[in-house]
Amino acid sequence: MSTAQFTQEDAKKAAAVAALSELPEAGVIGLGTGSTIRPFVDEIGKLVAQGRKLVGVPTSEATRKQAIALGIPLLSDDGPWDILVCFDGADEVDAEKNLIKGGGAAHTREKIVNYAAKKNVIVVDESKLSRRLGEKWPVPIEVLAFAHLATARLLEAHGVPTMRRKDGVPVKTDSGNYVYDLKVGEIADPAALERVLGAVPGVVEVGLFVGRADVVVIAGATGVRRL
Ligand code: 5RP
Repeated sequence: MSTAQFTQEDAKKAAAVAALSELPEAGVIGLGTGSTIRPFVDEIGKLVAQGRKLVGVPTSEATRKQAIALGIPLLSDDGPWDILVCFDGADEVDAEKNLIKGGGAAHTREKIVNYAAKKNVIVVDESKLSRRLGEKWPVPIEVLAFAHLATARLLEAHGVPTMRRKDGVPVKTDSGNYVYDLKVGEIADPAALERVLGAVPGVVEVGLFVGRADVVVIAGATGVRRL
């Protein structure tokens, strides 16, 4: 395929196929959420159908639905799990492999599964790379519905919060909470920002993942590389 014809969809598919090399022979794997991980989960479905003994922990209802349709066995949501490798996407990745996640409103479950995994593989196309987190994306923050306007007011001390809406209707996470996208600009210290935002009452989880990626698989028109 010529590079002129290579689309972002092609990059996502190429990254997903390349990430298969990080799969354990058998055992429990975390299944992330989003359009980059979707073709990866399709590949897992094919391997399971061929008899590979892989069991998933899904990070969203969308991924659960896809995995069930493909016949991938899943563990209960209750945990704890012994996850060998978790595979997930990201919205923004810096050179230290720190991430912004939550574009699909799934970052709370994704973070729980990420922390339960021995190894985390992040799969992206090269449009997700940035010099500094915050350059391209606001920070998604899952917020309790109770007093969310009060929580948003506290978030104003750190940036410009906007309630996420789809077709005019507030987006709700799989756990029934709201999402605020906090525009902060370039983030000098992602770990400090994660701590400070996480301490705001009403914040359920912050979409900053600091030091939580072991491998980043990046696909672009010129091929696949790893960070
Ligand atoms: C969902 C996420 C996704 O991993 C992130 O939004 C990337 O999605 P996509 O692969 O569709 O670009 O964090 O909450």
